[in-house]
Amino acid sequence: MKTIDWDQERQDFPAALSHTYLLTAAVGPISSPVYRAYERHYRGLLENGDYNWLDNVNMLDQVRVRAAQFLSASSPQEVGFSNSTSMAMNYLATMMARHLRSRGVPLRILSCQEEFPSTTVPWLYQGFEVSQVPAAQLIAEIERQRPTLVVTSAVQFGTGYRQDLKLLGEVCRQNQAQLIVNATQALGAFPVSVKECNITALTATCHKWMCCGYGLCLLYVANELSAAMTPALAGWLSVKDPLAMNNRSVEVKNEATAVEMGIPGFATIGAFGQQLQTIERLGIDRIASRILDLSKYAHQELSAICRVASTRTNSPNLSSPDSGILMLQINDAEAIAQKLGEQNIYVSVRQGGLRIATHYFNNHHDVDRLVDGLKGLL
Ligand SMILES: Cc1ncc(COP(=O)(O)O)c(C=O)c1O
Repeated sequence: MKTIDWDQERQDFPAALSHTYLLTAAVGPISSPVYRAYERHYRGLLENGDYNWLDNVNMLDQVRVRAAQFLSASSPQEVGFSNSTSMAMNYLATMMARHLRSRGVPLRILSCQEEFPSTTVPWLYQGFEVSQVPAAQLIAEIERQRPTLVVTSAVQFGTGYRQDLKLLGEVCRQNQAQLIVNATQALGAFPVSVKECNITALTATCHKWMCCGYGLCLLYVANELSAAMTPALAGWLSVKDPLAMNNRSVEVKNEATAVEMGIPGFATIGAFGQQLQTIERLGIDRIASRILDLSKYAHQELSAICRVASTRTNSPNLSSPDSGILMLQINDAEAIAQKLGEQNIYVSVRQGGLRIATHYFNNHHDVDRLVDGLKGLL
């Protein structure tokens, strides 16, 4: 297999060339090919308006097929395009609340203490009781508590703790629990196979590790779940025959695509499709290895000068809890991040610490620059 020239790949990310860009866990930069996909889309709108709208519809169908393959879904109809995890989780929570309530089943989920609010707020708002345990203990707690529904991030936004999704899915299967995953901090960085990991539903906001700009969230719903319940929300595109434009029809599709209630943001879907082609060319396993290698180096260098609050192993691999996110416990994180910014080193402040994210376009030199910058400030 051809080796990847990561320096060459970095050339596609102008933001990484002009800054020490460690902000991907907040928002990833877009690449030049993704930018050109946006340009093509907006040029079309500029020059022809909506005249070629069928091109957009066809593009959406193609990207859906690609996205389904990327997730190892069994059919493209299991993938829908939403605009945020908040929206997609609400879609799932309202559907499941309605279904469970009508059967007198208590509304309860098991989740993690460290979750980003988009994972938990939609369930709480629908009246679910949300029991939260440390992410590192989730698997043991499933075996102990035997919940019917588990909702977790694949990678926690603060600490970067990564679930072993394969093992988690297996434990859920053994305990007859349905697994719902927020893959926002994983998609584009680590392999996510819904079938292999026994995932019932998944959301993934795409402006982070998928590096395709704002306004897109992938929603996966297993056909079995869609067949068992009806969406609680609907718009003109959610119905079985939208082009009939019947304003009295509420015959809603029993598939993930029903989440596309109205016309979706074609531009970002096209950008997502473009980045997916890059990921297919590089290979998601190789991207994951590159990220783990950079993160291991960052952990080693940063632990020498400050406290790293993230769980890390000496030999990161696809089953270990390592990810591309490191949380540094530092006093005055806000002021330090600002001073680093003045040196052109971009990091995020989260939960009172500094969050560092290394994607495949980063390199060891980025880590060295951060370490040097921090040494002068601590
Ligand atoms: C784990 C996780 N999920 C979701 C989001 C974004 O949520 P939303 O798409 O609702 O804005 C973030 C960060 O912004 C996140 O870190």
